[in-house]
Amino acid sequence: MKIFLVAGARPNFMKIAPIVRALRAESREKSEKELSWMIVHTGQHYDYEMSQAFFDDLELPTPDFFLGAGSDSHAVQTAKIMVSFEKVCIDQRPDIVIVVGDVNSTLACSIVAKKLLIEVAHVEAGLRSFDLTMPEEINRIVADSISDYFFVTEKSAIENLVKQGKPNERIYFVGHVMIDNLFYQLKRLEGEKLSQFATYELKKDLENYVFLTLHRPSNVDSRETLLGIVEALNEISTEIPIIFPLHPRTKKMLDAFGIKLNKRVIFLEPLGFMESLFLWKDSVMVMTDSGGLQEETTALGVPCLTLRDNTERPITVEIGTNTLAGNKKQDILNYFWQIINNGKPGAAIPPKWDGKSAKRIVDVLTRN
Ligand code: UD1
Repeated sequence: MKIFLVAGARPNFMKIAPIVRALRAESREKSEKELSWMIVHTGQHYDYEMSQAFFDDLELPTPDFFLGAGSDSHAVQTAKIMVSFEKVCIDQRPDIVIVVGDVNSTLACSIVAKKLLIEVAHVEAGLRSFDLTMPEEINRIVADSISDYFFVTEKSAIENLVKQGKPNERIYFVGHVMIDNLFYQLKRLEGEKLSQFATYELKKDLENYVFLTLHRPSNVDSRETLLGIVEALNEISTEIPIIFPLHPRTKKMLDAFGIKLNKRVIFLEPLGFMESLFLWKDSVMVMTDSGGLQEETTALGVPCLTLRDNTERPITVEIGTNTLAGNKKQDILNYFWQIINNGKPGAAIPPKWDGKSAKRIVDVLTRN
């Protein structure tokens, strides 16, 4: 059996790392003919900080194929990935293509594989925000509509897939590879010399701080919306400083709109996984519009304020530490103070978020 593992954008790298470890372990027990695997990097993200830094941090091997797609409109980016990935698939004839998450690479590679009659396994299948203005929602729906294996992270995903008519026997509730990665890296971090991080002194000097990430087009691409968020952040930062690693899209939009942040909002370049974890795990609160951080904060019990109206990961709100604030100035401020004053009681770790999900996935794929 030959498996392709596809990754293209920053959040994918955290998800493939545990699968790589599980595949490595499984390969030791089998001959190459029985099991081989290759990593395909589509090149959707390409800057050192957005890509190679993660391969280094997560101890990922150099990809077997690098497609060099780069940034462009969604159509051009998706098409470039498809054209290059088709050539690699025809040349290599994998038996299964594993795609993770909901980025354009997930969409592009699942379509190509399926049309070549190669089985598609979707990791993090079934999640739905029911918001079709999000490009990721379209990617999720399309990838799920043609996948053969559905590896799901939470019960809402099972319900969504069943409603879509997917057969129960193809839906595997395995937990979350992102959380496998988090627990693994947290353990590694305990053994690291923390003074190696450029932000070591900054963290030491701050009594408390909020950790912020922001990059969704719905939050940063409109001047009015971004300005409202920034006004809330400026107000919060007069009480508690905010550490803000800047995504390239957000940097571009802040510059284009000429929007300025208060000095107590501390800008950083995009961070590697370890340094980011080093900072957010001890923050008073994470504010974010990312998908993964909503889940990672729940797994470590850190309060999370999500600057979106909806989430495709409802378990983080139901039993985790996540609160949805939307992106309006006054709502952000109200929810922020509510959490600072009252916390989020009753937080628990979702079922099967136990660090063993990648092994469950590899077990399913290799026994079928
Ligand atoms: C993509 C994903 C999103 C994910 C996010 C994580 C899709 C539809 N979106 O959004 O789900 O949460 O990645 O970061 O797949 N850029 C660089 N260097 C890079 C990559 C991008 O400078 O290495 C710049 C480009 O100028 C680009 C902008 O950032 O225009 C946005 O990048 P893009 O890949 O289009 O979307 P993201 O917002 O990163």
